[in-house]
Amino acid sequence: MFRADERQRQRARRPVLRPRTRARAVVKVHGAVTVPGDKSISHRALILAALGDGRSRLRGVLRSADVESTAGALRRLGAAVPPLAAELHVDGMGLRGLHAADGSLDCGNSGSSARLLAGVAAALPGASTFIGDASLSRRPMRRVARPLELMGARIVLAESGSLPMTVHGGDLRPLDYASDTASAQVKSAVLLAGLVAGVPVRVVEPAPSRDHTERMLVARGAAVVREGNGVSLEPTARLAAADLRVPGDPSSAAFLAALAALADGGELRLPGVCLNPTRTGFFHVLTRMGARLRVEDEASVDGDRVGTVVVAPGELVATRVDGPEVPSLIDELPLLACVAARAVGVTEIRGAGELRVKESDRIAAVVANLRRLGVEAEELPDGLLVQGGRGPLRGRVASHGDHRLAMAFGVLGALDGSDVAIDDPGCVAVSYPDFWRDLAGAAS
Ligand code: S3P
Repeated sequence: MFRADERQRQRARRPVLRPRTRARAVVKVHGAVTVPGDKSISHRALILAALGDGRSRLRGVLRSADVESTAGALRRLGAAVPPLAAELHVDGMGLRGLHAADGSLDCGNSGSSARLLAGVAAALPGASTFIGDASLSRRPMRRVARPLELMGARIVLAESGSLPMTVHGGDLRPLDYASDTASAQVKSAVLLAGLVAGVPVRVVEPAPSRDHTERMLVARGAAVVREGNGVSLEPTARLAAADLRVPGDPSSAAFLAALAALADGGELRLPGVCLNPTRTGFFHVLTRMGARLRVEDEASVDGDRVGTVVVAPGELVATRVDGPEVPSLIDELPLLACVAARAVGVTEIRGAGELRVKESDRIAAVVANLRRLGVEAEELPDGLLVQGGRGPLRGRVASHGDHRLAMAFGVLGALDGSDVAIDDPGCVAVSYPDFWRDLAGAAS
């Protein structure tokens, strides 16, 4: 299992990546890439299996640093989580079977691990302390501490409102909570706290965020009611074990879809991608911009739509993203800004202030990196503007250890005529360890 400091050392040993693109005349995409399992579903699959009754069978769980963080933290809370593998069996401890942390819970780079498990820890008698790497230690935790405190947990945060976070858990009260951010992590923390404590909870969001937790709870027999942007959970005595095949991560597939949209020819197939409507915003926007994108073999698998996304290049035009569309592609917005650098016109992204508190300040970092490559881009308080063009993309990109920045600029670096050096290519291990192999394999 990775530890944060070991990861840093491994990254430091890796050379600066210079995608092998300079000698190529055109980039054509071809073949099929099966992207790894969905990160959000993988975190939840492990947590809900640990809280379930009996043995859960999980196939296709993402094996990446972030999911290792959840697995490691769950073990410290008393769960029997085996080493991550293509197929793993988790013997659930039941809703009352976990205990407060034995040692601190190192969540590495993973906001989902810290925020979702804070909900679980809030319902466990005793103190659990969450720590993380430098990036996670800058991210806001009050958003999750606030509702959990309203339920009766006592939470001690660093003065900055971030990690280290000690959750003193125990008996909790019911909660009806209006969240001021559309955040699946906050919503899930409250649902998990209510689930483990056995009290009813309700969360209303300003816009719908990804709904994996509620879908997975329903699939395991919990009484979840959804109404507009609200979701409520009634107490349940037990959670059923599951037999789950984790679908491919649409946020990982997005990078390859973008490569295909920007290529000079060919077609790329991405089978087995999760098409949950709260996650497909990027595919819709790419289509709106002019990419030729279609879905084949769509089916319902374990309560979610799954299908093959097929993408071919098109003449891309600029677009505008704002409002309730934002949560459906929040993690793909850095990539969208990179795609926009190759689209005709000015692309405008607004209503996305959340980007400033992700693994890096993704608004500032994307704009600075685009400029380094010769693209005109401008920061807005809650978004950015990108002027598309055809000039060569050349320069050095600072990933800030942020996996999605490294991959987004990696896509630009793979285009004909680009010469993009990425300072920390190893940081993709957080969500897509084989990204560089898959990117190279898709293009020729
Ligand atoms: C996630 C929710 C989103 C997303 C993150 C994963 C989840 O964060 O950006 O990568 O698994 O619940 P927020 O809840 O902060 O919007």
